[in-house]
Amino acid sequence: MKKRDFLKTSVALASATIIPSPLLISTSPKKTTLRTAHIGVGGMGASDLESISSHKSVQVVALCDVDKNNLDDAHKKFPDAQVFKDYRIMLKEISESIDAVVVSTPDHSHAPASILAMEMDKPVYCQKPLTHFVSEARAMKKIAEEKKIVTQMGIQVHSFYDYKLATVLIQAGIIGKVHKVRAWSPKNWGYDGPEPKGKDDIPKNLDWNLWLGTSPDRPYKDKYYHPSNWRKLVDYGCGTLGDMGVHIFDTPYNALALEVPLTIKNKCRKPNGYGFPVNNSVEYTFPGTPYTANTLTWIWSDGPGAPASNKELKLPKRDKLPLQGAMFIGEKGRLLLPHFMERPRLIIDNEYKEIDIKKYDPNDLLGNTENDYERDAPKHYHQFVDACLGKDKVSAPFSYSSRLTETILLGVIAGRFPNKTLHWNNEKAKFQEEEANQYLSGNYRDF
Ligand SMILES: NC(=O)c1ccc[n+]([C@@H]2O[C@H](COP(=O)([O-])OP(=O)(O)OC[C@H]3O[C@@H](n4cnc5c(N)ncnc54)[C@H](O)[C@@H]3O)[C@@H](O)[C@H]2O)c1
Repeated sequence: MKKRDFLKTSVALASATIIPSPLLISTSPKKTTLRTAHIGVGGMGASDLESISSHKSVQVVALCDVDKNNLDDAHKKFPDAQVFKDYRIMLKEISESIDAVVVSTPDHSHAPASILAMEMDKPVYCQKPLTHFVSEARAMKKIAEEKKIVTQMGIQVHSFYDYKLATVLIQAGIIGKVHKVRAWSPKNWGYDGPEPKGKDDIPKNLDWNLWLGTSPDRPYKDKYYHPSNWRKLVDYGCGTLGDMGVHIFDTPYNALALEVPLTIKNKCRKPNGYGFPVNNSVEYTFPGTPYTANTLTWIWSDGPGAPASNKELKLPKRDKLPLQGAMFIGEKGRLLLPHFMERPRLIIDNEYKEIDIKKYDPNDLLGNTENDYERDAPKHYHQFVDACLGKDKVSAPFSYSSRLTETILLGVIAGRFPNKTLHWNNEKAKFQEEEANQYLSGNYRDF
C-alpha cells in the first residue's frame, strides 16, 4: 500500500461519513469459527494472543509484529499463522481470511491500526487506553457505531467479580449518593529526565520506522522506547494515568454512569515536552448523575509516594491502604475498592460493615464469587469472541471505552498546564482554554 493511501483511508478520514456495511461478519449467526489476526504479539500482545486463542472457536490466522524476535516467538506457538511486520500489508493482502483483529501495540499505534481494520468491517479488540489522542477516541467510537462493529477495549478486570459487585453495590445506593472518588497508584510510568542525545544502532530485529508509525520521526535510543518504556513519553504513551488509571477509573466511571468531566486540573511539575511527570495529582469535576451528588469530584494520585496521607482514605483498625485502588465517598459512608482481586469493603462511621451480598445479587447473576485470576482473565476476551459469533454481548465496547479514555486523556493534557483549571466542552470537543486544544490531536507522519 502506498504511504499516502494509508493515511487517506485511516484516521485522516475518520470524521467523514461512513457507509454502513451490508454484511456484518460480527453478527453473522452462521459463523462457528473466528479467524483472528494479531497486531503486536510481544509483551501484553503475547498474553492477548494466549487468552483469545484459548477460546475453542478461535483460529489464529495472522501474526504481525515490528520486532522479528517477538514475531518468531509467537509463530512457534502458531506455526500455521501467516506472519507480517506491517499491519497495513497484512490487512490489504489477506483481509478476506480475517474475521477479527486484536491490537496490542504501544498506545500511539492503537487508532491507526484499529481504524484501518474497522474500515474493512473487522471487529476489533484493542488494548487500553483506547487511543493516544482525544480526536482518535472520538473517531474510533464513530466508526464502530456507524458500522455496528463488535468492539472491546482490553480492560480485562472489567469482567471480574469484585468490580461487577462494586458496581451493583454503588448503584443500589449502599453508601447513598457519591460526592467524591479518590483513586491512586504509586506506579511510575513517568520520566522527569532530559531527552537523550545522539542515537544508537537500531537492533536488526526491529523495524524502527514501522514502530514509530504515525508518530514524529526520532532517532532510536536503547531502553528509552521499545519495549515498554514508550509509556513514559508524551509522543507514544499516556503516563501512569493512561496505564493504570484506565483500569482503576473503570469501575467508578461505570458504576456512577459518568460521561466526561467539566473541569480538570493536574498538579504536577512543569512540562518538558518529552516525558510525563513522575508524580501527578489530578482533580476532575463531573456533572451529577443518578448515583452522585449534584457534582462529583474525582482525585487521582500517582507516582512514588502516592497517595499522600488523607483523612478520606484512612481505614478502620489502622489497616494499611491497598497499594492501588479507589475509594467511593458517599452520604452514608465509604466503599473501598482495592485493585485488584479483592472484595470491595464497606466503611460506615469509620468501622467495617458486613455486606450481605445475597441481598444485592439474589440470583447469583454476578457469577463465580471465588477469585481465580487464571480462570477469570480470559473471560473478557471470550466475551468478545462470543459477541463476534453472535452469542454474547461485549461489556467494554468502544462506545463506552472511548468516553473513559477521553476522560483519562483530558487529565493527561492537563499535565501540560500544571495547577491550571481547564474547562471541557463535551459538545464542541474543545477546551475553553484555546492553548490546550492543540493537544487533542496530532499530525500523523507519512510512514
Ligand atoms: N490490559 C492490561 O492489563 C495491559 C497490561 C500491559 C499492557 N497493556 C497494553 O498493551 C499495549 C502494549 O503494551 P506492552 O507493555 O505489551 O508494550 P511492549 O512494548 O512490551 O510490546 C508491544 C509489542 O507490540 C509490537 N509493536 C510495536 N509497534 C507495532 C506495530 N506498529 N505493529 C505491530 N507490532 C508492533 C512490539 O514489537 C511489541 O512486540 C499497550 O497499549 C498497553 O497499555 C495492557
